[in-house]
Amino acid sequence: MTPSGDAPISAMPLYTHLDRIERGLAAQGVGPTDPIRPEQLFPLDQWHYHGTEAIAAAARWLGLGPHSRVLEIGAGIGGPARFLAHSTGCHVTAVELQAELDGLGRDLTRRCGLADKVTHVCGDALTVKLRPDSFDAVVSFLAIVHIPDRPSLFRHVAQSLRQAGGLYVEDLCMRAPFSAEDARDLRTVVYGLSVTSTADYVHDVQSAGFGAVQATDLTPDWAPFAAARLAAWRQERAAYCQVHGEAAWAAQDHFYAVISRLYDSRSLGGIRVTGRMA
Ligand SMILES: C[S@@+](CC[C@H](N)C(=O)[O-])C[C@H]1O[C@@H](n2cnc3c(N)ncnc32)[C@H](O)[C@@H]1O
Repeated sequence: MTPSGDAPISAMPLYTHLDRIERGLAAQGVGPTDPIRPEQLFPLDQWHYHGTEAIAAAARWLGLGPHSRVLEIGAGIGGPARFLAHSTGCHVTAVELQAELDGLGRDLTRRCGLADKVTHVCGDALTVKLRPDSFDAVVSFLAIVHIPDRPSLFRHVAQSLRQAGGLYVEDLCMRAPFSAEDARDLRTVVYGLSVTSTADYVHDVQSAGFGAVQATDLTPDWAPFAAARLAAWRQERAAYCQVHGEAAWAAQDHFYAVISRLYDSRSLGGIRVTGRMA
């Protein structure tokens, strides 16, 4: 339990039943120590909206190439980091808080042959040591929502970017105040610790020294995506349970259902925030 009495982040449904990754690979004929083609992981390791399409859009916006040095905040099991390295040749430093996810990510990266392109760092993005001017870009997908002190986070990462380095973030935001029940589920099921208005988000990014800050409302895209994801999940129940078991299906189902309900309540939203180090 955390000091507030809530379960720790590792209990969040998205971060349990991690054997689903090996089971998903096994279903494609890949054994536990076999090499992996990065494409075989894409259906399993992209824990955000629109999978690798969203990451490719970030790479285009940032103009990433083989010489780019990228910092990713909240890397999960390394899906976005591996896709960026694999598709552009850039180097990614992938910072992840949870040791179990970081360890799994490292193993997957090694088996994909990308260990020279992705450096996994296990730590809290708020305090992890980052050398000044060491990155050309910082990216984050659906992770900053978990980090309680967003102003400090942006100040911390900003000093690690070179001048004119880019910022590309996708995250959750608040469109209208949450009901008591929604606020509880947002905290305990989604582990949303910093869900604020878009204006507050932009303010935090600008205060850290970023210029040309743009916020794009992704809610009209993400809300129906979340509803369709839930419907598809329920339709594929039998097939998923056969590979992964009922408990793994139910955990994810609970998460998808809560997210969809939060969008329906019109309180939860999605945003993309971009900027350049002034
Ligand atoms: C929804 S997952 C997204 C993972 C990855 N960005 C992706 O899109 O596949 C968010 C991740 O952020 C990590 N995280 C949460 N707080 C963090 C912190 N303070 N420092 C680093 N990572 C953190 C979580 O452990 C989790 O793995």
